Amino acid sequence: MSLFSPVFSSIMTPTIKELKKNNIPEHVAIIMDGNGRWASKRKLPRSAGHKAGVEALRDIITTSIELGIKFLTVYSFSSENWQRPEDEVNFLLNLFLVSLNEELGSLDKNGVRVRLIGERKEVPSEILKAFENAEKKTRDNDNLYFNIAFNYGSRQEIINAIKKICKEASRNDIDLEQLDERNFSDYLFTKGCPDPDFLIRTSGEYRVSNFLLWQIAYSEFYFIKTLWPDFKRKDFLRAIYYYQRRNRRFGRL
Ligand code: FPP
Repeated sequence: MSLFSPVFSSIMTPTIKELKKNNIPEHVAIIMDGNGRWASKRKLPRSAGHKAGVEALRDIITTSIELGIKFLTVYSFSSENWQRPEDEVNFLLNLFLVSLNEELGSLDKNGVRVRLIGERKEVPSEILKAFENAEKKTRDNDNLYFNIAFNYGSRQEIINAIKKICKEASRNDIDLEQLDERNFSDYLFTKGCPDPDFLIRTSGEYRVSNFLLWQIAYSEFYFIKTLWPDFKRKDFLRAIYYYQRRNRRFGRL
Protein backbone atom coordinates (compact mmCIF):
# COMPACT_ATOMS: atom_id res chain seq x y z
CA MET A 1 0.00 0.00 0.00
CA SER A 2 1.33 3.41 -0.88
CA LEU A 3 1.83 6.11 1.69
CA PHE A 4 -0.36 8.45 -0.29
CA SER A 5 -3.11 6.21 -1.59
CA PRO A 6 -6.23 6.15 0.48
CA VAL A 7 -7.84 2.74 0.84
CA PHE A 8 -11.34 3.54 -0.18
CA SER A 9 -12.84 0.27 -1.18
CA SER A 10 -14.30 -0.07 2.29
CA ILE A 11 -15.64 3.48 2.43
CA MET A 12 -18.99 4.28 0.89
CA THR A 13 -19.20 7.47 -1.07
CA PRO A 14 -20.28 10.16 1.38
CA THR A 15 -23.18 12.39 0.49
CA ILE A 16 -22.67 16.14 0.58
CA LYS A 17 -24.67 16.22 3.83
CA GLU A 18 -22.26 13.78 5.42
CA LEU A 19 -19.30 16.03 4.76
CA LYS A 20 -18.41 18.63 7.37
CA LYS A 21 -19.69 21.95 6.09
CA ASN A 22 -17.12 23.87 8.11
CA ASN A 23 -14.16 21.98 6.66
CA ILE A 24 -14.57 22.26 2.92
CA PRO A 25 -11.27 23.22 1.26
CA GLU A 26 -11.43 26.80 0.06
CA HIS A 27 -9.10 26.15 -2.87
CA VAL A 28 -8.77 22.82 -4.71
CA ALA A 29 -6.11 22.31 -7.38
CA ILE A 30 -6.28 19.37 -9.77
CA ILE A 31 -3.76 17.72 -12.07
CA MET A 32 -6.14 16.05 -14.52
CA ASP A 33 -4.04 13.12 -15.70
CA GLY A 34 -4.76 9.89 -17.55
CA ASN A 35 -6.85 10.93 -20.56
CA GLY A 36 -4.52 9.13 -22.98
CA ARG A 37 -4.48 5.90 -20.96
CA TRP A 38 -8.26 6.02 -20.56
CA ALA A 39 -8.56 6.12 -24.36
CA SER A 40 -5.94 3.40 -25.01
CA LYS A 41 -7.71 1.06 -22.60
CA ARG A 42 -10.75 1.40 -24.83
CA LYS A 43 -8.73 1.18 -28.06
CA LEU A 44 -9.79 4.74 -28.85
CA PRO A 45 -7.61 7.60 -30.11
CA ARG A 46 -6.08 9.80 -27.36
CA SER A 47 -8.36 12.62 -28.51
CA ALA A 48 -11.37 10.63 -27.23
CA GLY A 49 -9.74 10.64 -23.80
CA HIS A 50 -9.38 14.41 -23.84
CA LYS A 51 -13.01 14.82 -24.89
CA ALA A 52 -14.10 12.58 -22.04
CA GLY A 53 -11.82 14.65 -19.79
CA VAL A 54 -13.91 17.75 -20.50
CA GLU A 55 -17.04 15.85 -19.40
CA ALA A 56 -15.35 14.91 -16.15
CA LEU A 57 -14.32 18.50 -15.59
CA ARG A 58 -17.90 19.67 -16.04
CA ASP A 59 -18.98 17.28 -13.27
CA ILE A 60 -16.25 18.51 -10.95
CA ILE A 61 -17.12 22.18 -11.54
CA THR A 62 -20.78 21.50 -10.71
CA THR A 63 -19.85 19.56 -7.60
CA SER A 64 -17.42 22.27 -6.51
CA ILE A 65 -20.25 24.81 -6.63
CA GLU A 66 -22.53 22.50 -4.66
CA LEU A 67 -19.85 21.98 -2.04
CA GLY A 68 -19.11 25.68 -1.68
CA ILE A 69 -15.50 25.39 -2.85
CA LYS A 70 -14.45 28.93 -3.69
CA PHE A 71 -11.40 28.37 -5.92
CA LEU A 72 -10.79 25.55 -8.38
CA THR A 73 -7.52 25.49 -10.33
CA VAL A 74 -6.99 22.87 -13.04
CA TYR A 75 -3.83 22.00 -14.95
CA SER A 76 -5.10 21.89 -18.50
CA PHE A 77 -1.97 22.45 -20.60
CA SER A 78 1.55 22.82 -19.32
CA SER A 79 4.29 24.81 -20.99
CA GLU A 80 5.91 21.41 -21.71
CA ASN A 81 2.80 20.03 -23.45
CA TRP A 82 3.75 21.86 -26.67
CA GLN A 83 6.24 19.04 -27.17
CA ARG A 84 3.48 16.50 -27.78
CA PRO A 85 2.81 15.37 -31.37
CA GLU A 86 1.44 18.21 -33.49
CA ASP A 87 -1.85 16.39 -34.10
CA GLU A 88 -2.53 16.05 -30.39
CA VAL A 89 -1.59 19.67 -29.65
CA ASN A 90 -3.91 20.86 -32.42
CA PHE A 91 -6.71 18.66 -31.16
CA LEU A 92 -6.28 19.99 -27.63
CA LEU A 93 -6.19 23.62 -28.79
CA ASN A 94 -9.38 23.13 -30.75
CA LEU A 95 -10.99 21.37 -27.78
CA PHE A 96 -10.18 24.36 -25.53
CA LEU A 97 -11.64 26.71 -28.08
CA VAL A 98 -14.84 24.73 -28.57
CA SER A 99 -15.29 23.89 -24.87
CA LEU A 100 -14.70 27.45 -23.73
CA ASN A 101 -17.21 28.80 -26.22
CA GLU A 102 -19.78 26.05 -25.59
CA GLU A 103 -19.56 26.13 -21.81
CA LEU A 104 -19.30 29.87 -21.33
CA GLY A 105 -23.05 30.51 -21.05
CA SER A 106 -23.51 27.80 -18.46
CA LEU A 107 -20.39 28.81 -16.50
CA ASP A 108 -21.64 32.39 -16.41
CA LYS A 109 -25.15 31.36 -15.40
CA ASN A 110 -23.69 29.39 -12.51
CA GLY A 111 -21.68 32.37 -11.27
CA VAL A 112 -18.30 30.96 -12.27
CA ARG A 113 -15.47 33.41 -12.83
CA VAL A 114 -12.98 32.12 -15.40
CA ARG A 115 -9.33 33.11 -15.32
CA LEU A 116 -6.39 31.95 -17.40
CA ILE A 117 -3.24 31.36 -15.42
CA GLY A 118 -0.15 30.91 -17.52
CA GLU A 119 2.20 32.70 -19.88
CA ARG A 120 -0.10 34.52 -22.31
CA LYS A 121 2.61 35.64 -24.73
CA GLU A 122 2.94 32.34 -26.62
CA VAL A 123 -0.74 31.40 -26.60
CA PRO A 124 -2.17 31.32 -30.16
CA SER A 125 -4.24 34.45 -30.67
CA GLU A 126 -7.55 32.67 -31.31
CA ILE A 127 -7.24 30.71 -28.05
CA LEU A 128 -6.15 33.75 -26.10
CA LYS A 129 -9.13 35.65 -27.46
CA ALA A 130 -11.49 32.88 -26.27
CA PHE A 131 -9.92 32.93 -22.79
CA GLU A 132 -10.04 36.73 -22.60
CA ASN A 133 -13.62 36.75 -23.78
CA ALA A 134 -14.51 34.24 -21.03
CA GLU A 135 -12.63 36.33 -18.44
CA LYS A 136 -14.45 39.47 -19.52
CA LYS A 137 -17.91 37.91 -19.60
CA THR A 138 -17.54 36.32 -16.16
CA ARG A 139 -15.53 39.01 -14.36
CA ASP A 140 -18.36 39.98 -11.99
CA ASN A 141 -19.08 36.40 -10.87
CA ASP A 142 -17.98 35.18 -7.48
CA ASN A 143 -19.62 31.82 -6.86
CA LEU A 144 -16.57 29.84 -7.97
CA TYR A 145 -13.23 31.22 -9.10
CA PHE A 146 -12.19 28.81 -11.83
CA ASN A 147 -8.54 29.09 -12.81
CA ILE A 148 -7.46 27.30 -15.96
CA ALA A 149 -3.71 26.74 -16.01
CA PHE A 150 -2.82 26.92 -19.68
CA ASN A 151 0.71 27.24 -21.05
CA TYR A 152 1.60 27.12 -17.39
CA GLY A 153 4.93 26.18 -15.83
CA SER A 154 5.62 26.96 -12.22
CA ARG A 155 9.38 27.42 -12.39
CA GLN A 156 8.95 29.92 -15.21
CA GLU A 157 6.22 31.65 -13.19
CA ILE A 158 8.68 32.05 -10.30
CA ILE A 159 11.48 33.30 -12.58
CA ASN A 160 9.08 35.83 -14.13
CA ALA A 161 8.15 37.01 -10.64
CA ILE A 162 11.82 37.49 -9.75
CA LYS A 163 12.43 39.43 -12.95
CA LYS A 164 9.47 41.73 -12.23
CA ILE A 165 10.70 42.32 -8.70
CA CYS A 166 14.24 43.10 -9.93
CA LYS A 167 12.85 45.59 -12.45
CA GLU A 168 10.76 47.29 -9.78
CA ALA A 169 13.75 47.35 -7.45
CA SER A 170 15.95 48.98 -10.11
CA ARG A 171 13.35 51.75 -10.44
CA ASN A 172 13.07 51.98 -6.64
CA ASP A 173 9.40 51.00 -6.91
CA ILE A 174 9.80 48.30 -4.27
CA ASP A 175 11.70 48.13 -1.00
CA LEU A 176 13.32 44.69 -1.04
CA GLU A 177 13.40 44.66 2.77
CA GLN A 178 9.60 44.64 2.67
CA LEU A 179 9.42 41.60 0.38
CA ASP A 180 7.84 38.66 2.17
CA GLU A 181 6.00 35.43 1.37
CA ARG A 182 2.65 37.17 1.15
CA ASN A 183 3.60 39.97 -1.21
CA PHE A 184 5.83 37.68 -3.32
CA SER A 185 2.61 35.77 -4.14
CA ASP A 186 1.28 38.94 -5.75
CA TYR A 187 3.85 38.52 -8.52
CA LEU A 188 2.54 35.08 -9.50
CA PHE A 189 -0.22 34.27 -12.01
CA THR A 190 -2.40 33.24 -9.07
CA LYS A 191 -2.33 36.72 -7.55
CA GLY A 192 -5.37 37.22 -5.35
CA CYS A 193 -6.03 33.48 -4.80
CA PRO A 194 -5.36 31.82 -1.49
CA ASP A 195 -2.92 28.90 -1.70
CA PRO A 196 -4.54 25.56 -2.55
CA ASP A 197 -5.65 23.63 0.52
CA PHE A 198 -5.94 20.43 -1.44
CA LEU A 199 -4.09 19.10 -4.49
CA ILE A 200 -5.55 16.13 -6.35
CA ARG A 201 -3.73 14.16 -9.04
CA THR A 202 -5.45 11.37 -10.90
CA SER A 203 -4.00 8.38 -12.81
CA GLY A 204 -1.67 6.98 -10.16
CA GLU A 205 1.31 9.26 -10.82
CA TYR A 206 3.01 10.58 -7.70
CA ARG A 207 4.48 13.86 -8.85
CA VAL A 208 3.56 17.51 -9.12
CA SER A 209 4.93 18.18 -12.63
CA ASN A 210 5.85 21.84 -12.27
CA PHE A 211 2.36 22.83 -11.03
CA LEU A 212 1.95 25.63 -8.46
CA LEU A 213 5.27 24.82 -6.76
CA TRP A 214 5.27 27.94 -4.60
CA GLN A 215 1.57 27.80 -3.84
CA ILE A 216 1.37 24.16 -2.65
CA ALA A 217 3.85 24.53 0.19
CA TYR A 218 1.22 23.51 2.75
CA SER A 219 -1.37 21.80 0.56
CA GLU A 220 -2.69 18.37 1.38
CA PHE A 221 -1.93 15.92 -1.45
CA TYR A 222 -4.27 13.27 -2.77
CA PHE A 223 -3.07 10.83 -5.41
CA ILE A 224 -5.64 8.46 -6.83
CA LYS A 225 -5.33 5.73 -9.46
CA THR A 226 -8.59 6.64 -11.21
CA LEU A 227 -7.96 8.05 -14.68
CA TRP A 228 -9.20 11.61 -15.13
CA PRO A 229 -12.18 10.87 -17.42
CA ASP A 230 -13.47 8.44 -14.75
CA PHE A 231 -13.03 10.92 -11.90
CA LYS A 232 -16.62 11.94 -11.24
CA ARG A 233 -18.71 13.50 -8.49
CA LYS A 234 -18.54 10.41 -6.22
CA ASP A 235 -14.75 10.29 -6.49
CA PHE A 236 -14.54 13.98 -5.69
CA LEU A 237 -16.79 13.60 -2.63
CA ARG A 238 -14.59 10.74 -1.42
CA ALA A 239 -11.52 12.91 -1.92
CA ILE A 240 -13.09 15.67 0.18
CA TYR A 241 -14.02 13.10 2.83
CA TYR A 242 -10.38 12.07 2.91
CA TYR A 243 -9.26 15.72 3.11
CA GLN A 244 -11.51 16.20 6.13
CA ARG A 245 -9.61 13.47 7.96
CA ARG A 246 -6.28 15.23 7.57
CA ASN A 247 -4.77 17.11 10.46
CA ARG A 248 -3.33 20.29 8.99
CA ARG A 249 -0.67 21.70 11.25
CA PHE A 250 1.23 24.13 9.00
CA GLY A 251 4.44 23.24 10.79
CA ARG A 252 2.93 23.77 14.23
CA LEU A 253 2.22 21.10 16.82
C1 FPP B 1 -3.47 14.74 -19.22
O1 FPP B 1 -3.74 13.45 -19.70
C2 FPP B 1 -4.47 15.70 -19.73
C3 FPP B 1 -4.20 16.78 -20.52
C4 FPP B 1 -2.85 17.14 -20.98
C5 FPP B 1 -5.28 17.66 -21.01
C6 FPP B 1 -6.36 17.96 -20.02
C7 FPP B 1 -7.35 18.83 -20.66
C8 FPP B 1 -8.69 18.70 -20.52
C9 FPP B 1 -9.35 17.70 -19.66
C10 FPP B 1 -9.56 19.70 -21.23
C11 FPP B 1 -9.86 20.85 -20.33
C12 FPP B 1 -10.67 21.86 -21.04
C13 FPP B 1 -10.87 23.14 -20.62
C14 FPP B 1 -11.72 24.03 -21.41
C15 FPP B 1 -10.25 23.66 -19.38
P1 FPP B 1 -2.63 12.75 -20.59
O2 FPP B 1 -2.89 13.09 -22.02
O3 FPP B 1 -1.28 13.14 -20.09
O4 FPP B 1 -2.93 11.26 -20.31
P2 FPP B 1 -1.87 10.06 -20.24
O5 FPP B 1 -0.91 10.42 -19.14
O6 FPP B 1 -2.71 8.88 -19.92
O7 FPP B 1 -1.21 9.97 -21.59
